[in-house]
Amino acid sequence: MLVLDLGGQYSQLIARRVREARVYSELVPHTVTPEQVRARNPHALILSGGPASVYAESAPRVDPRLFELGIPTLGICYGMQLMALELGGRVDRTGVSEFGKTDLQARVADSPSRLFDGLPAEQTVWMSHRDSVVAPPAGAQVVAGSSSTPIAAFERADAGLYGVQFHPEVRHTPHGQDLLKNFLYDVVGAPPAWTPAAVIEEQVERIRAQVGRERVLCALSGGVDSAVAALLVHKAVGDQLTGVYVDHGLLRKNEAEQVVETFGGHFQVPLVHVDAEERFLARLGGVDDPERKRKIVGEEFIRVFEEEARKLGDVRFLVQGTLYSDVIESGGTENAETIKSHHNVGGLPVDMRMELVEPLRMLFKDEVRKVGEGLGLPERMVWRQPFPGPGLAIRIIGEVTHERLETLREADAILQDEVRRAGLYRSLWQSFCVLPAIRSVGVQGDGRTYGYPIVLRAVTSEDAMTADWARLPYDLIESISSRIVNEIPAVNRVVLDVTSKPPATIEWE
Ligand code: XMP
Repeated sequence: MLVLDLGGQYSQLIARRVREARVYSELVPHTVTPEQVRARNPHALILSGGPASVYAESAPRVDPRLFELGIPTLGICYGMQLMALELGGRVDRTGVSEFGKTDLQARVADSPSRLFDGLPAEQTVWMSHRDSVVAPPAGAQVVAGSSSTPIAAFERADAGLYGVQFHPEVRHTPHGQDLLKNFLYDVVGAPPAWTPAAVIEEQVERIRAQVGRERVLCALSGGVDSAVAALLVHKAVGDQLTGVYVDHGLLRKNEAEQVVETFGGHFQVPLVHVDAEERFLARLGGVDDPERKRKIVGEEFIRVFEEEARKLGDVRFLVQGTLYSDVIESGGTENAETIKSHHNVGGLPVDMRMELVEPLRMLFKDEVRKVGEGLGLPERMVWRQPFPGPGLAIRIIGEVTHERLETLREADAILQDEVRRAGLYRSLWQSFCVLPAIRSVGVQGDGRTYGYPIVLRAVTSEDAMTADWARLPYDLIESISSRIVNEIPAVNRVVLDVTSKPPATIEWE
């Protein structure tokens, strides 16, 4: 299934919803040519929404010959209007715009609607448009309308042309996924064959074809992306893969052991575990500027990784956990060569002159998790909350020392433990502790103490761009707080961060 991206905010979401229905889908530019489409041999096309008016000068168009390929096509919102315009209908600015939840009525037409088959005659849909289709394409019948948009859906079954004004891909359209399934399964006849097992099989074959008998290197971070990428490569080429796990000593409690046990032990991936805590701490000594800390950790990581790679001799391939969302964001499609360079410590040196193996580049994050489950990756790793590359270094305000790391690690372990026990781990985007660089007075037993506070930080978020502070239950906060002050002698106070992002960031540094 190809989703032609006409610039709408939900284009990616359409591709994801189609995949949720187990039909493989890809986002392609709206400028795709009929020849390119034919070469891909898709089951169907979907034209996405878009921000423009079809009459605007710079309005994105598609090649009208696409409609003559005999490939079933569904236009959504702007995509529907574009179809109407190209196929002999009419689009007008009627002066009535619809935004938000709207009541939709299915229409009784000459022949039964295929898109609305089995769906309620009245339903709520999500609309977001100014222009409206005022005459459907030649030969098409109108199958649904709302009070202000009489032509909210049309079908021309004999030509495989379908259009809906509303957004079936958003959750605010409760029957949207059913409508997409009607299109995929009944109209198009696409088999629901895109499953984690199928992805694993296909990727394993691809990796084998790419790598042949050569050796492959993979930097493991403990995160789900590098873990799944490594396991796919290992399944494909076995011991030709070597995993390198650089332990910079800034990890959470027991994290390094879990990675070593999972990969080296359970999955038997040849693993180089580099215990580099001393090197990192030596370089971080006396440094309290957050950006400087980030830079040091990043540089040192690359240095250690390069040293290890050199020791392994001639290795031609490097595994990279690039995701489909990275590919889309960087504007690339098939062959974007960029190494993920955002502030991830996993960002590896570009001059290593290795060829990239990127088994996740066609997968969304939730699909990576499903593939991870399919490969037998433990639940803990599949669902791990994001953890920043510089690790605890940016959760210790001021200088990072071994002693302060130990304090933070213990507090963080208590928080993780309690959050998991309360069954909230997965519902939080991130939950962690921060160690500020101040001390305060307390009283314990008969004595006055002068100890560190620990800050609890828990947020909910979709994508880390914005975040809301999590309303943790008081009882949970209470158990975390009392365990921390009782179990960690250096700490005599626990406080809760109740700021959202913006104006705060999720991390404290
Ligand atoms: P902020 O603190 O900017 O964080 O709201 C947004 C998300 O990014 C993560 N983060 C980092 N990840 N290296 C990383 O790999 C970093 O230097 C870094 N700084 C922030 C943070 O944990 C949150 O998920």
